[in-house]
Amino acid sequence: MRLLVVGGGAREHAIGAAIVQAEAEIVVASANANPGLDHLARATARVDPTDPVKVTAFARAQRVDAAVIGPEGPLASGVADALRTAEIPTVGPSKDAARIETSKLFCRELLQRHGIAASPKWAAPASVDEVDRAVAEFGAPFVVKPSGLTAGKGVWVQGSDFAEPKDGAIYAKSHLVQGGRVLLEEKLDGEEFSLMAFVTDSGLYPMPAVQDFKRALEGNQGGNTGGMGSYSQRDHLLPFLPAADRDRAVEILRAIVAAMRSDGLSYRGILYGGFMLTAGGPKLLECNARFGDPEGINACTLYEQGDFAELLRGVATGRVDPNLVQFRLRSTVVKYLVPPGYGDRPRAGGLLTVDPVGITEAGVHLFYGSVEEGGPGEVRLGTSRGIALAGEASAIHEAGTRVEAALRCVKGEYYVRHDIGTKEDLARRWEHIRRLRAPNAKPSPLPLSVAPPDAPPSSAATPDLEIG
Ligand code: AMP
Ligand code: GLY
Repeated sequence: MRLLVVGGGAREHAIGAAIVQAEAEIVVASANANPGLDHLARATARVDPTDPVKVTAFARAQRVDAAVIGPEGPLASGVADALRTAEIPTVGPSKDAARIETSKLFCRELLQRHGIAASPKWAAPASVDEVDRAVAEFGAPFVVKPSGLTAGKGVWVQGSDFAEPKDGAIYAKSHLVQGGRVLLEEKLDGEEFSLMAFVTDSGLYPMPAVQDFKRALEGNQGGNTGGMGSYSQRDHLLPFLPAADRDRAVEILRAIVAAMRSDGLSYRGILYGGFMLTAGGPKLLECNARFGDPEGINACTLYEQGDFAELLRGVATGRVDPNLVQFRLRSTVVKYLVPPGYGDRPRAGGLLTVDPVGITEAGVHLFYGSVEEGGPGEVRLGTSRGIALAGEASAIHEAGTRVEAALRCVKGEYYVRHDIGTKEDLARRWEHIRRLRAPNAKPSPLPLSVAPPDAPPSSAATPDLEIG
């Protein structure tokens, strides 16, 4: 089987690596060269991945059996529609259905129209005056969200990105003045998690839950980014996320798919829910119409040594064999190495020396993102996320320790968040939810699930495979 991968980042490298492990072939359409992904590919096309005509021409010439779209840009520009018109089954919704990601207003209105009670309080002011009225009605604190795509960097949260309501109002108005739409939302308190699922005509098949680290700097300081790293837990839940709340999030995703279907929008692709676990259960912050980046890396590295290509083709053609949806019972930690200043003023061009053998020996997978190949064993950082290191182990913090060990195999100037997947960070998040849910209870110790002893799996999955 031969699959087209659209996009050239670390997430696409991880998707490609999961596909080729089952003797399937990939070809890649991306704007940039990717030293890891291109190496796996039978053929590459250096094209604008958002160009439906060029991508489809390449897919046809390569006689691919199916296509999988990585980033949101090609979904927004109709690449999935063009591929389907050319009778190439595609993992990725139509441009219309991808509005679940490309328009936050569409997403909120869909939930409202169909009575899906998962949104925070929200408003979509249509004029500058309405912004003032909405801010007055809300009372602090609130969040300002441009409705369209912003690569994860457009959302402003009171207390982090602005202090006074008037500053949030100015930001909201600046989008309206430029002709865009903007949402104001009640600021929710809780812990975020990402839940991705394969969605097709035959049903919705969830992946392990993941927590993404959106802020640029350690201690969750700095601006929002596409994601600096992420972790997942052995039982496919998270230290602070019980099965009942994960199941509720799956229910919300199912309701969204049903709502779109009843509005005439079929969906074959990945649906990603960005949730906040609050005292009152999970609330939806956003939907994406693709694998998260980095969350897709956690999922792809956990994919059982099965046939990922067949699973993706099933999603693309409308019928998934549930036996192919198999993720190993291991914890994962992904950390992105980014150029210094990333999130604000990234300084591109830094040369990194990478020892891939040492990284593999540390039990860690290496995925290339925004880098250019340099001399032997060298890559040059671009302005975006450069290298993803994905560690796996039985416990989350052990996977984090493996990534930290693998960092010794990368020399040069870069920034990485060392706090992702540490015991301290996990305990803090767990305590946060415990306090929200039982404010009067005494502090309790770190739960077993984040410590090394093997907790029994909470989701039906296959037996653990010990690696590394
Ligand atoms: P989004 O692109 O909608 O996921 O927003 C980006 C980030 O902003 C999220 O990952 C959260 O950290 C934060 N955020 C978005 N909406 C809210 C909200 N209603 N309450 C608190 N934080 C939010
Ligand atoms: N990591 C968040 C996203 O992929 O949008």
